[in-house]
Amino acid sequence: MSFEGKRLVVVGGGSGIARRIVVDAREAGAEVTWAGRNPAQLTAPGIRTAFADLGEESSLKALAEGAGEIDFLVTLAAAPANGSVTALDRDAVVRAFDAKVVGPLVLAKHFAPRFREGGAMVLFSGVAAWRPVPGRTVMATTNGAVAFLAEALAVELAPVRVNAISPGIVDSGAWDRLGEAKEEFFRRTAEANPARRVGRAADVSAATLQLLANPFVTGSVLHVDGGGRLA
Ligand SMILES: NC(=O)c1ccc[n+]([C@@H]2O[C@H](COP(=O)([O-])OP(=O)(O)OC[C@H]3O[C@@H](n4cnc5c(N)ncnc54)[C@H](OP(=O)(O)O)[C@@H]3O)[C@@H](O)[C@H]2O)c1
Repeated sequence: MSFEGKRLVVVGGGSGIARRIVVDAREAGAEVTWAGRNPAQLTAPGIRTAFADLGEESSLKALAEGAGEIDFLVTLAAAPANGSVTALDRDAVVRAFDAKVVGPLVLAKHFAPRFREGGAMVLFSGVAAWRPVPGRTVMATTNGAVAFLAEALAVELAPVRVNAISPGIVDSGAWDRLGEAKEEFFRRTAEANPARRVGRAADVSAATLQLLANPFVTGSVLHVDGGGRLA
C-alpha cells in the first residue's frame, strides 16, 4: 500500500499503537504530523510534531490551521476512567469522553473543510463496548459512543469516509502498568480469544492504514480483537 503524497495527521500519545501507525504510514510514503499533549515525547524519524489536547478546542483549531489540507486523520487517545460506578469521579468521566468522543468530534469540526478528495478519518473504539464488565462502564460507554460517532460523521461529512477501529487486548505498552501480572493476563486472554493470541500494535496499524485507503468503506467498525468480543 503506497501513501506517497498523502498527508496524515495522527492525534494521540506516544503509545505503541499511535507510534506504529506513524512509523508505518511514514514508511509507506505519507507526510505525517503526530500531535499530542507532550510533543517532545512524539519521536519518530521524518515526521512533524504538534501540540494537541483533545479536551482543549483552541489546540485542535490551531492544529487544523497548521496542518492545511490533509488526506487522512486518525485519533486514538484514551483517558480511561475505570472503577465501580458508585466511586466514579465526574471530572475523570468528562476527561474520558473528551479523549474519545467530544475531542474527536471537535477535531472533525475543524478538519472537515480541509480534507482533499478521497479523504478519510479513523476513530478508536475498543472491545470493552461489546464485552462490558463491572468497573469498566465508562470505557464501555465511550467506546460504544465512538462506533455511533463514526456512523453519524460518515453521513454528515460525506464523501469524507469515517470509520472506527475496535482493538481487543493489544500489547501496546498500555498494559505494562500491570507489572508482573501482565504475562498472566495476556496468557489468559490469548487462551480465550478465538485467534489464540493477544494483539500487536502492528496488527492494529495495518488495519488502520487499510481503512484509510479503502475507498468503499465508511461508517464501519473494524474489530481488530482476535475475536475477543465473542469469547
Ligand atoms: N491497548 C489495548 O489493549 C486497547 C484495547 C482496546 C482499545 N484500545 C484503544 O486503542 C487506542 C490506542 O491504545 P494504546 O494502548 O496504544 O494507547 P494508550 O496507551 O491507552 O494511550 C492513549 C494516549 O492518549 C493520550 N491522551 C489521553 N488524553 C488525551 C487528551 N486529552 N489529548 C491528547 N491525548 C490524550 C495519552 O498520552 P499523553 O499522556 O502523552 O497525552 C495516552 O498515552 C486507544 O483509544 C485505546 O482505548 C487499546
